[in-house]
Amino acid sequence: MSSPLLLSALRRERTPRPPVWLMRQAGRYLPEYQAVRQQTGGFLAMCRDPAAAAEVTLQPVRRFGVDAAILFSDILLPLDAMGLALRFDEGHGPRFEKPVRSEAEVRALRPFDPAEQLPYVGEALRRVRAGLPEGTALLGFAGAPFTLAAYAVEGGASDSHARLRQLMYREPAVFDALMDTLATVVGWHLQYQIEAGADAVVLFDTWAGGLTREDYAQRVAPWSRKALQPSSGLAPRLVFARDGSHLLDDLVALGAEGVALDWRTDIAAAFERHGGRVALQGNLDPAALLATPAEVTRRTRALLDAVGGRPGHVLALGHGVLKETDPECVAAFVQCAKERAAG
Ligand code: CP3
Repeated sequence: MSSPLLLSALRRERTPRPPVWLMRQAGRYLPEYQAVRQQTGGFLAMCRDPAAAAEVTLQPVRRFGVDAAILFSDILLPLDAMGLALRFDEGHGPRFEKPVRSEAEVRALRPFDPAEQLPYVGEALRRVRAGLPEGTALLGFAGAPFTLAAYAVEGGASDSHARLRQLMYREPAVFDALMDTLATVVGWHLQYQIEAGADAVVLFDTWAGGLTREDYAQRVAPWSRKALQPSSGLAPRLVFARDGSHLLDDLVALGAEGVALDWRTDIAAAFERHGGRVALQGNLDPAALLATPAEVTRRTRALLDAVGGRPGHVLALGHGVLKETDPECVAAFVQCAKERAAG
């Protein structure tokens, strides 16, 4: 079997064209996703139903011919498995009924065996693998310890993450205990997904970009490194921090094989500085897909020109597809990678 294009790019080999996929490529902008969501009874029910999860994972592969499928699931499911009681109420973001705040609550958290608590994740991966065309990669993922801690402590979305930052600064030993447990959970979860058939994995640190470089490097990066440790040598890993341009050196230093760039990062400069060491993914502004297909094509070609066919480039957005996106614009984006003969 030929190696998927995405894996060649993550190894920084020269490829005939850049591979392409999108964060949140399975989602509400697709009518076929909405149909499965309605039949299955909502987002969490879909995550826990391997047939439904596999089906929506495969939809964008069929529709657009992207080079990777990312498992339909969520970074918050491991926290639910630890007893925090996740809810998604219509019109709201995620919420936890039992957030973790006191020292006793942190110390009561236990890592768990993902094969026992999240068996539907492995089952969905096996089903996707069976339905995936040859040459298309399968991606697993997890939230990084800091982003999971943000949801665990705040109990949901937050602008300031004030509770989390209070814990970090005023009770460093409790913060470290929480990060340590989460790093173990994430490390096992990534390894479990690789064993169930994921070709590569993504570590999403959505909220790390709010930190200074110093706080990130000293208080957060060591735990991401710990989370990456069990999968080391098993499959390529990509790390992503939303709004993380200032953290780029530290993200590269985590030791993953690739770094996914936020759309505000200058990708040509990132290649100059780091392209010899890691693969770089990105990084069209997700809001650019709200323009016309012709404008999407213009902007994506400009991005590919800026990268200049350097090996180790994975074409993607700098964050997730917005739910208002016209699927025709995703098609135009994907087409730009397919028409490219890398230099
Ligand atoms: O296609 C894919 O990218 C795979 C599936 C995937 C989802 N969530 C599905 C989803 C992935 C990789 C995630 C990761 C995730 N989940 C992150 C990290 C990446 C990022 O976006 O920064 C975070 C922070 C979450 C937590 C989460 N899940 C939030 C904040 C929300 C609500 C936001 C929203 O768009 O409504 C979710 C729900 C969610 N996860 C949806 C999807 C498709 C929307 C659910 C729906 O209403 O159908």
